[in-house]
Amino acid sequence: MIRSEGVRIKVPASTANLGPGFDTLGMALSLFAWIEMKPAERTVFHLYGEELRGIPKDKSNLVYKLAQQVFAEAGVAVPELEISMASDIPLTRGLGSSASAIVGALYAANELIGAPLSMEKLFDMATAVEKHPDNVGASLFGGIVSAVWDGERAVHLRIEPPAELQVLVAIPSFWLPTEQARKILPDSLSMKDVVFNVSRASLLTGALASGRLDLIAAAMQDRIHQPYRAPLIPGMEQILAEACSHGALGAALSGAGPTLLALVERNSDRRSELEAFIQRTLGEHGIEAKLLWLEPCSEGASRVGAHEAAPFAAGNLV
Ligand code: HSE
Repeated sequence: MIRSEGVRIKVPASTANLGPGFDTLGMALSLFAWIEMKPAERTVFHLYGEELRGIPKDKSNLVYKLAQQVFAEAGVAVPELEISMASDIPLTRGLGSSASAIVGALYAANELIGAPLSMEKLFDMATAVEKHPDNVGASLFGGIVSAVWDGERAVHLRIEPPAELQVLVAIPSFWLPTEQARKILPDSLSMKDVVFNVSRASLLTGALASGRLDLIAAAMQDRIHQPYRAPLIPGMEQILAEACSHGALGAALSGAGPTLLALVERNSDRRSELEAFIQRTLGEHGIEAKLLWLEPCSEGASRVGAHEAAPFAAGNLV
């Protein structure tokens, strides 16, 4: 069954790792990307917003190619597509913009043909592209996701984010490609550091699942990626070390960075103190950053009706 009228999909941003859960833990966040996909006579793209400038508008486009993978898997042919895309998720900043495009493409294509593939299958396909399941898992399923990937299959557990949790992100004005932030990591680790991380990642997962916000500070510590990435994000080391003394429950590098993330109790009266501390510390290192308060997003990729306006405004075409 092909929906000739097309489908419109909304996909949340995501943060990966949450400190110790390297390539494992992810959380969906309330910034969104939209993809509209329709069968067409010839393939055409409409890209809205500066974030998408430069993305290919031919069949080499990743969204187009992933849609074709879904159709091939389902044994359906939809060779020509009209694809519209818009995104509020800043690119190459550690907020899962590429994961949102991958998930959006697979989910939209599957919906377009009546959803023959399971969510688990889409998760396997998304992880095969991204190579780690943390961002794509959160974007696909929403909430907090703990996931493992064996190279073929991704298995996940979804955790409903505690209602008292809010997220402050500091998005530096510079780009940091994930590849660069992965290249800097060591090939091997000491048993001491591995035990340090396994214990924190386990405690953090349990703390988030059971709403024990008091355990987050002890759990949100990492020795296997953040220390190596610190030189790439001036000011990060101090922010991660001192955020809890300025009102955060815990702080981490968001994914491969450069965005920094603090978990904060919703009714905290120290929000401005934390904002000022982060802004001041980055400023002392010559880094300009945009601070945003975000919500953990319970819903993952979903189909939205034509009535739910996507930011597809003619003036924004790139
Ligand atoms: N877990 C990944 C990393 C997320 O930290 O490199 C980035 O996509």
